[in-house]
Amino acid sequence: MGNIFINNKYFISLKLKMTKNKIFLSDDTLEKALHLLNSGKLVALPTETVYGLAADACSDKAVASVFALKERPAFNPLIAHFYSPEQIKEYTEITPLAETLLKNFAPGPLTLVLNRKRTAPLSDLVTAGLDTLAVRIPNHPIAQYLLEKFGRPLAAPSANPSETLSPTQASHVKIAFKNSKNRPFIIDGGPCQQGLESTILDARGDTPILLRPGGLALEEIERLTGISVKLDPQDSKIRSPGQLKRHYAPKTPLKLNVKVPSTDVAYLAFGPTTSCTDEACLQLSATKDLEEAAANLFSMLRKLDSFNKKVICVAPIPEFGLGLAINDRLKRASYTKY
Ligand code: TXA
Ligand code: MG
Repeated sequence: MGNIFINNKYFISLKLKMTKNKIFLSDDTLEKALHLLNSGKLVALPTETVYGLAADACSDKAVASVFALKERPAFNPLIAHFYSPEQIKEYTEITPLAETLLKNFAPGPLTLVLNRKRTAPLSDLVTAGLDTLAVRIPNHPIAQYLLEKFGRPLAAPSANPSETLSPTQASHVKIAFKNSKNRPFIIDGGPCQQGLESTILDARGDTPILLRPGGLALEEIERLTGISVKLDPQDSKIRSPGQLKRHYAPKTPLKLNVKVPSTDVAYLAFGPTTSCTDEACLQLSATKDLEEAAANLFSMLRKLDSFNKKVICVAPIPEFGLGLAINDRLKRASYTKY
């Protein structure tokens, strides 16, 4: 159980499973964030996966400013964040499959795509006009506190400009939007513990279909529920329109599956290596721990990008557990349009 201090009081969230570190916030940070959200303004907040750029999901104006700030294509819908499964049921047609998944993995790094309820007061911009809504309950005390007090869902994409690396620290958000006119208020909750965006499943039928691999490994879903996830989104009538070929990209070109890098490149190592002595070589995980690698991925790519080498080479990462999502992000980061 982790600790979070709000208004200098010792606040313990009952649902808090993940935060190991103490978080200190200045007295009025969360009140200010709530006030801004209620006024249709944007707040960048920590979740266990990545920082989110949150807006009132029921306000067209607020949601429109998320798209504008991120320069996100309007066809790419947002994830709505909720406080509880009960609240999700007010906005979506819940299925037995979704109930099972929520029971086992909420709060956590899992997003479910469900049919939306037309009666719910959601902004149509959140779903980009689709009949489906992506829903998630984040496992972070700050996000949960705000969601509970706010009382409505918060639409929150990752708090980065479209196509760039997702932010896993408050400073990443600050730097990304430092020249923007409409800068968000940023709540610094320390580094995100998981570092990869949520796993997205189409949960409208009897079998879940993978739309985006992410911070919840498919093996974990199968182990705890006996449910196996279909890998082929072709089976789903819906897609994640945001699964762009080029995404999560640093400025420096990326080369994957490099076992032995030459000396003039930046290198992202995975597992024991003798060649990682240069400052432009970073170790995702010396012990080949995929959770540690996931947490380090985006911040290390950022750091390697800052050396301005001609290429960043990346060691091979196994294609199981969180490796599926890590490889997905690396492939998109290395995709060139030309
Ligand atoms: O961990 C996460 O999921 C983070 C944190 C902040 O919660 N959020 C995040 O949001 O990664 P974003 O906007 O960067 O990615 C959301 C993805 C996009 O690929 C989008 O296309 C997909 O979710 N999506 C949203 N609504 C959808 C829907 N109705 N059907 C299919 N895909 C949807
Ligand atoms: Mg994103």
